[in-house]
Formats: sequence, C-alpha cells, structure tokens
Amino acid sequence: MKVTLLPGDGIGAEVLEAAMRVAEAVASKYGVSFETTEELIGGASLDAKGVPVTDEALQTCLDSDVTLLGAVGGPKWESVEHRLKPEAALLKLRKTLELFSNVRPAKVYAPLLGESSLKAERLDGADFVVMRELTGGIYFGEPRGLEDTRGFNTMVYETAEVERIARKAFEIARLRGKKVVSVDKANVLECSQLWRNTVTALGEKDYADVELSHMYVDNAAMQIVRDPRQFDVILTSNMFGDILSDIAGMITGSLGMLPSASLGEKHALYEPVHGSAPDIAGQGIANPVATIASIAMMFKYTLELVEAADLIEQAIEQALLDGYRTKDVYSEGKTLVGTNEMTDAIVERFEELHARKQSA
Ligand code: IPM
Ligand code: MN
Repeated sequence: MKVTLLPGDGIGAEVLEAAMRVAEAVASKYGVSFETTEELIGGASLDAKGVPVTDEALQTCLDSDVTLLGAVGGPKWESVEHRLKPEAALLKLRKTLELFSNVRPAKVYAPLLGESSLKAERLDGADFVVMRELTGGIYFGEPRGLEDTRGFNTMVYETAEVERIARKAFEIARLRGKKVVSVDKANVLECSQLWRNTVTALGEKDYADVELSHMYVDNAAMQIVRDPRQFDVILTSNMFGDILSDIAGMITGSLGMLPSASLGEKHALYEPVHGSAPDIAGQGIANPVATIASIAMMFKYTLELVEAADLIEQAIEQALLDGYRTKDVYSEGKTLVGTNEMTDAIVERFEELHARKQSA
C-alpha cells in the first residue's frame, strides 16, 4: 500500500513515527506492506518552500492510497497572511483529495474515566462518532473576503453534497447503534433547512431501518456534555462539526486520545484530532495514542481488516489498564511514560493479543 507521510509541525513528527512503528508491527501480521514517501506540510513547508503545501506534495498524496498526517501550525506562523497559514494547507489537502467525510469517534476509555472534567457516572459507556462534512459549507463558500470594515463568508450547501455525507453517516450507523442525530440550525439558516430536508428525505427513502432525529446545534452542544450516552452517530456540517468534535473530544479526558479519518470516494487521510502542541515538541513526551488509534481506523476503513483494527484498540486499552500514561493523562499512582515507551507498551500488547488470537 502506498502511504504518504506528512509529519508537519510541532509534535507531528514524533507521534507519526511512533504510530508507524505500530502500523508496521500490525501490517507484518496481516500480509500488508507499506511503501512510504514523506512530504512537508504546514509551517515546515512554508519555511522551506514558501507555501504551506506544494503542488508536488499534493500530487504525492493523490498518487498514494493513504495519507497520514501528524499536525500543523504553531505560534511562529500565526501572523502570516491567511492563504499562507499552515491551516490553509489542511484545507487544500481536504479539497484536493475530495475528503468530504470526516469521522471523529468519541469513545471513553474505561481506564481514563476519572480524567475527564465531566462526572465519570455520566460518561461510562459513552461511544459515538461525529460525522462532519469536510469540503463544503462556510469553510469553502464563495463569496468570501476581508475588506477595511467588513469581513464576510458564505454558508452554502448543494443537495448532492448533503446527500453524500448523509449516506456515509447512515451507513456507519448501520454498523453501530443504528441511530443518527442530524445537527443543524434550521430555525435560523436556510442552508440548514436544505440540510434538514435532504437528510430527512434520504432517510425515508433508503435508510428506514436507521432511527433519524434532528437537533439544533446549540442544543446538541449542551446535550453532548449533559448526557453523551444518548448519541450513536452525529451528522453535521463543516463548521458545526468542527466545534462539536472538540466538545466531544473533551468527554474522553484528553484530545491526545482522539483519532480521525477523512474519507472520500478515492482517497483517505488519517490524523489525530489534536494540534501540533509546540510547547512540548521535541521532548519525547507527546501522547501517541490519537495517532495510533488513527492507524487503527486506517486498518478498518481502508484495508478493511477489522480484526487488526480491533486488536490495536484493545492494545491501547490494555496499556492504559496496566497503568501506562503520558503526561497529559497522568494521575497519581500510574506509570508516567514518554512517547516511545507508550508506543512500546502498545506494540507489546498487540503482539500478545494477536498471538492469543492465533492460538485460539
Ligand atoms: C480541525 C481543525 C481545522 C479545522 C483547522 C486547523 C483548519 O480545527 O481539523 O478540526 O477547522 O477544520
Ligand atoms: Mn477543529
């Protein structure tokens, strides 16, 4: 399988390297091998090439089956103009690879129940995914601009764009709890009214077996912290999904635990939800779990090796159960480890779980 590696900025390179160690260990057991190419992105690319992503780097991604991204951004590039910002590279990548659906699972790892800022008894068993539309809406709508005394953007969706992401959400729901909550602001925005009409019609036509309901985005934000267990699949637009997936991230205790997959018809990109954490970059203390869990998603969605994906997730959970913690999720009495030791602990447990599976 052809893989493009985009380490990016800050802790990106460290967590990606760690995750690739897990990927290689797992791949060798399932007859998969990777042919990797590395490209610059974000601030690293801006410094070296004058743009946050080059056409050549984009082409490399287009030519590969999967792209793995570390993280982009940092204070060094905060004041550069909009089109040169590291974040602009991410948007360009999503658009170029037509990654219209972004899957962000929010699952509470039982051993970390106590780390969340929410009460453990409200969280136990929470397990849902946010399906965020990723190549449309206000992030890309035209016209947009910044004038002397006016800044403006356009929130716009076409029926076909809503349908294709809604289909993905219904299909993922079928593999899970068969419940979709579509989130919008149809009480105020016409764009959201189209969204709601489209999702409703599609649900009635093709997915009558999936329970569909609708929620306004303000209420959804409140419901996620009030009672996260009520959700299975949350389907929403680009900007609402950006916000809700950060909220969903915090119910799990640390953004350092959250993976994501961005999927299109032809390409796939996997990356941790967290940012580049420049304050801890280069110290070997970053939490690799989100990136390793993103590798699990790659095995599931691109390679369709569900068993491999499950074993990676179980290995993460077991390492946590055995007390291993990076600094961001550390609590007293646990074993404080760095990026590499955490990764070793996960690889070891994966090997054990896999061996046990083989002999069973
Ligand atoms: C995310 C990020 C990006 C977004 C930024 C960095 C452009 O916040 O992936 O959620 O807003 O989509
Ligand atoms: Mn975000």
